[in-house]
Amino acid sequence: MKSISILGVFVADLCFIGDRIPSKGQTILGKKHVVGPGGKGSNQAIAAARLNGEVSFITKIGKDSHSEMAFNLYKEAGVKTNSIIQDEKLFTGVAGIMIDKDGNNAINVVSGAAEHLVAEDIDNKIETIKNSEIFLTQMETPDEITIYALKKAKEHKCITILNPAPARKIDEGNFKLIDFFTPNETEAEFYLNKKIETDSDIKNAADEFLNKGVKNVIITLGEKGIYFANKNEKFFLESYNLRQPVIDTTGAGDAFNGALAVGLANDLDIKEALNFANKVAGISTTRLGAAASMPFAKELENN
Ligand code: RIB
Repeated sequence: MKSISILGVFVADLCFIGDRIPSKGQTILGKKHVVGPGGKGSNQAIAAARLNGEVSFITKIGKDSHSEMAFNLYKEAGVKTNSIIQDEKLFTGVAGIMIDKDGNNAINVVSGAAEHLVAEDIDNKIETIKNSEIFLTQMETPDEITIYALKKAKEHKCITILNPAPARKIDEGNFKLIDFFTPNETEAEFYLNKKIETDSDIKNAADEFLNKGVKNVIITLGEKGIYFANKNEKFFLESYNLRQPVIDTTGAGDAFNGALAVGLANDLDIKEALNFANKVAGISTTRLGAAASMPFAKELENN
């Protein structure tokens, strides 16, 4: 199995569950409150490790009760932590998450210590990237660090996956650094600056990303599944048929990306890797929480 390095953010998710997500200026009475581990990169690392991936996580974190939560989580999941920089002068990030009765969410992330990652930190942890064959990242770390790390990962011949969430600007010349690009529909709309509504819009959007230099595009479509395109093949895949109701979609994209990395690490063919990632993402939506909702490999057989 190939090894995986993941650059990203850990935050403590403060989740408020209620009938609806309050609108601007509104106060509502919620039903439940949960504090748990989150942050896209960290969630992806947990997803991959629980699926038996060999995973190193690269981030910056504070020294407080939230960082303790993170280290306990990594220990339990078997994520390698030697590339986590701890700075006691900084605070570990937090996210406020509102969840409605159908599992939809609205999220505000304050990345905290991880906002202070600098290129030198990546250089100091370069062995981790160098020793991995797959490099996965998102857009929660500072833009210049995301791009710097992608460049380094390419220099060291890694397969790169960019989950462009939350959507933030990528300079045109940098799309060529991306082997697998995994926007959802909203993120794809942001990058192409146009509405994506129909199947043909989705297909055209994927072609535009390929023209920008991305090697493989996966547009995730929530309950509708995904669309995959590279220069040789293009297809839609339906989402996994769930046996339980959806209760919280937070982290479903992370489950997908972590599982995709494991599928590629195991040299699955692309359709198999995507079906595997769809299944893992689907199962994660039937549980509350982000990192907490990631299934273990052995659970996949019974789901
Ligand atoms: O993708 C879900 C994650 O986004 C949450 O865990 C939250 O922390 C934000 O980073």
